[in-house]
Amino acid sequence: MGIGVYFCNMEWIFKHNQIHQTAAQLWKIAANTRIFAFHGAMGTGKTTFIHALCDVKQVKDVVGSPTFSIINEYVYTENGMEKKIFHIDLYRLKDEEEAMQAGVGDCLTSGHICLVEWPEKAPDIFPDNTIHLFIGMVDTKTRHLKISNI
Ligand SMILES: Nc1ncnc2c1ncn2[C@@H]1O[C@H](COP(=O)(O)OP(=O)(O)OP(=O)(O)O)[C@@H](O)[C@H]1O
Ligand SMILES: [Mg+2]
Repeated sequence: MGIGVYFCNMEWIFKHNQIHQTAAQLWKIAANTRIFAFHGAMGTGKTTFIHALCDVKQVKDVVGSPTFSIINEYVYTENGMEKKIFHIDLYRLKDEEEAMQAGVGDCLTSGHICLVEWPEKAPDIFPDNTIHLFIGMVDTKTRHLKISNI
């Protein structure tokens, strides 16, 4: 076992107008993380939170919903260098095999940041250093976000 940092039971409760603040805090504590898996029931706010994460990184491309494309690629600049974020939505896929065929495996090993919705569609493709996040609804305007590596 190497020495690593493990996040455990870290959580936020936020309204929509606090989403960018929450996203900025997540980037800060997960600065060395590349792969983020967003768990949560339909319509709880996975895409909305991913958009906020992209806003904080000031991605250049318009961040749309990846509903019709499984993999969306965004570009941003950090320390004068051009970097990529992959926004991946596994909802329409069946399993690990379909995910690999769609090119998701290549994204996960690319070294670029990957923000993935519906990871439970292909749980076995995620490396151990994935951060798993769980989004839930507190009320119509309020969301609960919890980091857990279970
Ligand atoms: N605090 C909040 N954070 C995120 N979304 C919120 C919040 N409050 C209200 N919402 C609303 O909840 C909805 C979340 O929709 P979104 O598409 O992000 O969910 P999703 O989890 O990606 O759904 P799907 O499972 O279909 O991919 C949006 O309409 C958004 O405006
Ligand atoms: Mg979504």
